[in-house]
Amino acid sequence: MADRQASRIEALFAERFPKSAEHYRRATKLFPSGVTHDARYLKPFPIYANEALGSHKTTVEKHVLIDYWMGHGAMLLGHSHPAVVEAVQKQAAISTHPGACHELELAWGERVQQLVPSAERIRFTNSGTEATLMALRVARLATGKTKVIKFAGHFHGWHDSLILGSDPPHDVKYTMPGVTDGVASDIIFVPPNDLAAVETAIDEHDPACILHEGNGTHWGIVPARAEFMQGLRELTKRKNVIFLLDEVITGFRVHPNCFQGHCDIVPDMTALAKVLAGGLPGGCLAGRADLMEALAFDNPHGQKMKHPGTYNANPLSAAAGVAALDIVATAEPSNKANESAAKLRQSLNQIFAEKSSRLVAYGDFSAIKIHADFEGPHPTTDDEIPFGGDWRRLDIKADGRLGHAFRCALLLGGVDWFGWGGSTSLAHSDADISQTTQAFSNAIDMLREDRFNV
Ligand SMILES: Cc1ncc(COP(=O)(O)O)c(C=O)c1O
Repeated sequence: MADRQASRIEALFAERFPKSAEHYRRATKLFPSGVTHDARYLKPFPIYANEALGSHKTTVEKHVLIDYWMGHGAMLLGHSHPAVVEAVQKQAAISTHPGACHELELAWGERVQQLVPSAERIRFTNSGTEATLMALRVARLATGKTKVIKFAGHFHGWHDSLILGSDPPHDVKYTMPGVTDGVASDIIFVPPNDLAAVETAIDEHDPACILHEGNGTHWGIVPARAEFMQGLRELTKRKNVIFLLDEVITGFRVHPNCFQGHCDIVPDMTALAKVLAGGLPGGCLAGRADLMEALAFDNPHGQKMKHPGTYNANPLSAAAGVAALDIVATAEPSNKANESAAKLRQSLNQIFAEKSSRLVAYGDFSAIKIHADFEGPHPTTDDEIPFGGDWRRLDIKADGRLGHAFRCALLLGGVDWFGWGGSTSLAHSDADISQTTQAFSNAIDMLREDRFNV
């Protein structure tokens, strides 16, 4: 690849999105690197979109894009679903924050209890990060133990303990700028999909809990299948270790009863966010009543876990969550999103094979993962995992320059792809899928013209 060539996609991109470029110049004077979430950083500049409806978002230049970010996975129903909009508007007119217990938190909690097998008790938080943070503290308080086992590459939010080891490379000692060695020394890492390694780590470290990111590393870069989850449930039960399933992404998305419903397991605790709050900020920890008692006053553990949080169970999030979960319960959103993603994975692999491309599509449920360095026959069935599921080859650090050029090339084709992955929703149509496949085909041509090896 050559700089001269790489700048060609950039030049076309700058021509297509001039107002975004202008906004970005303002943004760099406000925000570090001009963005408010690391994943939105894009070279030469990110796009700006104020509007989104169904499966599309509209940029400030009025270009309509097929969206595969879907609110970082939160918008399973599609953008601005009428039932959610109506519920939020109605609530906003009454109160955005009564600073009191309110009826919508009851309705929201009851829906979580009805849909999530492990949800005997619930505490609402503001995000998935807060939910996994709460889980660690509950587990430590309930067991009196300190260590935590985490799978290499699994993402559980950005708080100190669990941000460690969430990204490749995996052949190094995990550190994170700003996280102390003391915190790091409490986290034990095991390879994904390796029950024997989990058992050894449990015997060696006597942990407070083990966490698993529902259906695998970064939402399935290294997929985890039901048999493994059942084995993990059986092992943790036998060893008497608390098993926390992080369903921040998979919760309500893959199945109305979440990934645990699909796998037919009941973890001890579950972290939820995203779809839970219908596209507004919100999360929760749900779990066994005896463990969640750690949050109660006068509880049997003898110590209470302190849990403030100004916006816990905020009524706007609760209104959106109740409206969304009522639709989730019909199973239509997860069925439709899963079906669309399977169609897209298949049609992308057809194009990649026809073009002898190094790109490959794979994934489970409504996730579509792209690996950019694949050789060999492209999958012809949807349950095939590239490299035979070898996690060290699947979860690699991608070429950053290619990543930016790839996203820009797709944006030029009318598709907003979420890094190297994407997710579908209830709103994605067959027309979206064929247009997206065409955009990928054109993007490969553009990238090759720019001498990227794709
Ligand atoms: C599996 C998983 N856990 C936790 C989080 C953190 O959630 P939040 O971004 O709401 O803090 C995420 C966010 O993407 C996630 O994917």
